[in-house]
Amino acid sequence: MQYSEAFTKALQFMWGDGFLSPGGPEEVEDMLRGHDLSGCRVLDIGAGLGGVDALLVSRHGAAAVLGIDVEAPLIEAARSLIAERGLSDRVAFQLVEPGPLPFPDASFDVVFSKDAMVHIPDKAALYREVLRVLKPGGAFIAADWLWAEGAATSPVVQAWVSKGPLTFAFTTPAEAAAAMRDAGFAAVLVADRRHLLQASNRREVEALEGPARQRLADIVGEEMALARLASARGRQNALDAGELIPSHLRAMRPV
Ligand SMILES: C[S@@+](CC[C@H](N)C(=O)[O-])C[C@H]1O[C@@H](n2cnc3c(N)ncnc32)[C@H](O)[C@@H]1O
Repeated sequence: MQYSEAFTKALQFMWGDGFLSPGGPEEVEDMLRGHDLSGCRVLDIGAGLGGVDALLVSRHGAAAVLGIDVEAPLIEAARSLIAERGLSDRVAFQLVEPGPLPFPDASFDVVFSKDAMVHIPDKAALYREVLRVLKPGGAFIAADWLWAEGAATSPVVQAWVSKGPLTFAFTTPAEAAAAMRDAGFAAVLVADRRHLLQASNRREVEALEGPARQRLADIVGEEMALARLASARGRQNALDAGELIPSHLRAMRPV
């Protein structure tokens, strides 16, 4: 298990209730810009604590969302959050094993994923599975952490990754686009979001260098609070060096 309770509390302190990734509702809105989810059945890969899934139905009009994740405690917490918000009739969660998606072909109108696919090493197999479970004409809408050519050996990236408990499987934007096309997707787009994340991450570093760190330490302990500051600084260095490239991905299953 990579997402301990203390770790998820710390991430939510920085990024908002129910979120294990940065950007909050505005970032979800940006991911969906120009795409209407009304009436859609949506699969969310790597749902985490379910904050994103609540938004997909309450703000963006999805008819039904199924969030999948590989960590049982996260699934339990996500179910509680959705029940508290009175959305259990439209949002469900399912624990899955890494690997093939356990759904029939053409099950979903939209496959969505926010900052989770970076944990999945075999991108070619992942994109093939996403295409398979989408209906013809269906949309793949994701945010993912990519990296620059050569970043695998970058000391700046290694210094950041070593500061946290997570394992990552990065690809470059060109590799991601090629893998989506090879899987059979059309209208493939990979958009660099680094400048936005650079600004928001800098605010996060400044907050944790100030009184917010003590408030966080009161919730999760001094060691975790310091680890979050070290991680935010490491991420800032990787963003500033141009080696970490948070991106939006868009593609369509051909009709
Ligand atoms: C950074 S969190 C993002 C969670 C959520 N999307 C959000 O934005 O708050 C990444 C999530 O991906 C999940 N995950 C990792 N590998 C996965 C896989 N193979 N299939 C589905 N989920 C996975 C993790 O357990 C974690 O909940």
